Amino acid sequence: MNWSSGSPALKSLWGLDPEVTFLNHGSFGATPRAVLDAQTRWRDEMEREPVLFLARKLPALMEAVRVRVASFLGADPAGLLPVANATTGVATVFHSLTWGPGDELLLADSTYNAVKQAARALSDRYGVRVVEVKVPFPLTAPEQVTAAYVAAFSPRTRLVVVDHVVSATGCVLPAAAIVAEARRRGVPVLVDGAHAPAMLRLDLTELGADFYTGNLHKWLCTPKGTAILSIAPAWRAIVHPLAISHGYGGGVTGEFDWTGTFDPSAWLAVPSALDLFSGFGPDAVRASNHALVQNGRIHLAEALGVALPHPDDPALYAAMAAVEVPWARATDGASLNALSAALYDQHRIEVPFSAYDHRVWVRISGQLYNAPEDYVRLADVLRTWRR
Ligand SMILES: Cc1ncc(COP(=O)(O)O)c(C=O)c1O
Repeated sequence: MNWSSGSPALKSLWGLDPEVTFLNHGSFGATPRAVLDAQTRWRDEMEREPVLFLARKLPALMEAVRVRVASFLGADPAGLLPVANATTGVATVFHSLTWGPGDELLLADSTYNAVKQAARALSDRYGVRVVEVKVPFPLTAPEQVTAAYVAAFSPRTRLVVVDHVVSATGCVLPAAAIVAEARRRGVPVLVDGAHAPAMLRLDLTELGADFYTGNLHKWLCTPKGTAILSIAPAWRAIVHPLAISHGYGGGVTGEFDWTGTFDPSAWLAVPSALDLFSGFGPDAVRASNHALVQNGRIHLAEALGVALPHPDDPALYAAMAAVEVPWARATDGASLNALSAALYDQHRIEVPFSAYDHRVWVRISGQLYNAPEDYVRLADVLRTWRR
């Protein structure tokens, strides 16, 4: 297929507001019309005869999607489970393990805030000690991150959490190297790949993490509420969904396919997103999205008069990147959100700001509906805009 990012034909696949320069695919994804139409067809079918659909047809339909998603992610379908989102994937692992006072849970200062809070809750409930690795940013090489993790391993480490793509900075962390180091010490790893499916080329079996969670609703552009939790064989007997239902004890796939009544139309529409993505060629989409961000961050850094926080190494970033906003002082979540809201109100640009290591960063995303001009527009506005 011959296409160029941000062309009118590509933009029209999404129902995004044409008045908005939308540079925040990362937060919640954005779902193409065709995928939403597929979801509507599934919902209509369910509502024609809910019992026939949910009680008799659904198990085989869930299984078919599981097999297809597993093949896309290089995962074993027997351990690939549907969850609503990465937050649930992480919580499922946290609550499936048994914890005692003084057990250590290793995560990073760059770990997604909701996951840090979930770790805090474990600490409050069981006396777990949460150990924070300092992930350097700016950084020059992935090995710095691996070394920081390795230095924090201890005989009390019960679980290591690694963000495959850091939310605040877009940085890709060396998950495979950290998994290999942890395995050598017999420490299990949960990779939080909230942004990774479709953004990165994944082979979850080869990666070999004990647990891997990832959203399909971000970079695969599926309907919201579609994510996976992949469990290595050794852990399948002890992992259970947060809501136990009829299938308890009958094997992970059955347990996770039904955790009480829900609307499966989002999950059933996932193949439609996979079809769309395959039509473009997943590697071609990745290359195109990366090129947008690669050039976008250069424009921004020039406009803001700052240095780039890491070299132009594809091991370090993919379809998101962060650039420092030197004049911004906001560091708490509310002030950062207010910065985004003001930029949206005044210029109809949607882009997130984050704080990391006492500096404020603007994070850009690149997706098929984005054109190179979107980043030029952001750079032009940020050159003089202050709040
Ligand atoms: C690293 C990371 N973990 C978890 C999440 C939470 O994702 P969700 O809200 O879909 O559960 C995000 C969201 O951006 C994230 O970046």
